[in-house]
Amino acid sequence: MSVTGEPLKHPLAELLSAGFGHRYREGFVVTQPGGIVMPAEFLLDAQRILDFPVKEDDVWLVTFPKSGTTWTQELVWLLMNEMDFKTAKEICITERFRYIERMSTLPKATRQGAPDTIQLAADQPSPRLIKSHLPPALLPRQLWSVRPKIIYVARSPTDAATSYYYFNRLVHGISLSLDEFLECFLADVVQFTPYWTSVLEFWNLRSEPNILWNTYEEMKQDVGAVIRKTAAFLGKSVTDEQLHQLEGHLSFSSMRANPATNCSDVMLSLRTSIGLPPPPSDQAFMREGKVGQARLRMSPEMNRRFDQWIQENIRGTGGRARKAKQAPLPMARRAANRCAAHANAHIFGCLGNGCQSPPPDAALDPIVCRAGAEVGGTDFPKSAAPTDLRDSQGGHRNRPRKKWPLVVINPMFKCV
Ligand code: A3P
Repeated sequence: MSVTGEPLKHPLAELLSAGFGHRYREGFVVTQPGGIVMPAEFLLDAQRILDFPVKEDDVWLVTFPKSGTTWTQELVWLLMNEMDFKTAKEICITERFRYIERMSTLPKATRQGAPDTIQLAADQPSPRLIKSHLPPALLPRQLWSVRPKIIYVARSPTDAATSYYYFNRLVHGISLSLDEFLECFLADVVQFTPYWTSVLEFWNLRSEPNILWNTYEEMKQDVGAVIRKTAAFLGKSVTDEQLHQLEGHLSFSSMRANPATNCSDVMLSLRTSIGLPPPPSDQAFMREGKVGQARLRMSPEMNRRFDQWIQENIRGTGGRARKAKQAPLPMARRAANRCAAHANAHIFGCLGNGCQSPPPDAALDPIVCRAGAEVGGTDFPKSAAPTDLRDSQGGHRNRPRKKWPLVVINPMFKCV
């Protein structure tokens, strides 16, 4: 089977292309298989990636762009390298943890002279650490037979999409407004979209013993818990002292100040390759590092569009998102607090490894916390069932609910 691509045809594709200064001269394609948008040049590399020889002791990190990849890379690298903080501060994360399809994501001018990232990924000493944003159908086929450890990290689509916009402004100097870019994101014309392809396909694979499902929101909520969970998955032990040190090293401020993780040199060389001046001082790869900020930046109309889009896409995948109801405010506040209190509470997160007893038929019922992340509603262990929600809907405290309610938390409440 070879990878082919249909030229991307959509009125918004033209807007996006203009926003990128038409630097992706060969245009974009929708891949087959995979069905995601990639620069046409990706087709030159796609077969090599599919045929990439996988090793059992590889560790793969797969995400949708801007979902906390670098954060997780730094964590995984340290766990896999005896907490060698000294080397971690000396060598850029892009060299310690290889991004396999990076060369295929670049505009032609940047690609020329760029290293062969597939070869760089292959040539690492074992255990190799490899990052990708590709969906399962475009990842190396041997991943599914050799079955190395794979970590998937998901992030709320509103935050990921907004972060993606600022990233493209930083690296490519795109001239679109945030809402214009989000419009393109919703229309699936942005590179690596549709967002749901990768997230939901890995979601379906989350119970495989060689797959770990983490979320950005979980890391923000309790990075220590994610460190412990990830270390256990990788078969590494972490002392309390190392945990403390890791938490400090992985904090946003520390990673932002660390040249080996804030990627400023990489950003600069990408900009230089397309003739852009150094970025303005208020733009950085480590931008904001928060949950839920996107909702506050998006227009009310775009917020509404994202709500609808999230619900439609969850519904389309076998989840049972139902019509959102506006929660009475005290109930919404309690729900928000409860979500935030649960280590795995954010986007789909509770449905992963940390979930003790999810209602079996409620897998994708979300609670949408507008000022926070979209959060999974099924994280509540049965013992902590959301009686407040049930009470508010008619006092069915002791009667098992078939479906858990979907609540839209008012924008004025934050998941803190
Ligand atoms: P924002 O643009 O929202 O700030 P990726 O590494 O997948 O490209 O993701 C980049 C996003 O992760 C950026 O989000 C970045 O600021 C955030 N990030 C990176 N390291 C982080 C950390 N230590 N803590 C919180 N957020 C972090």
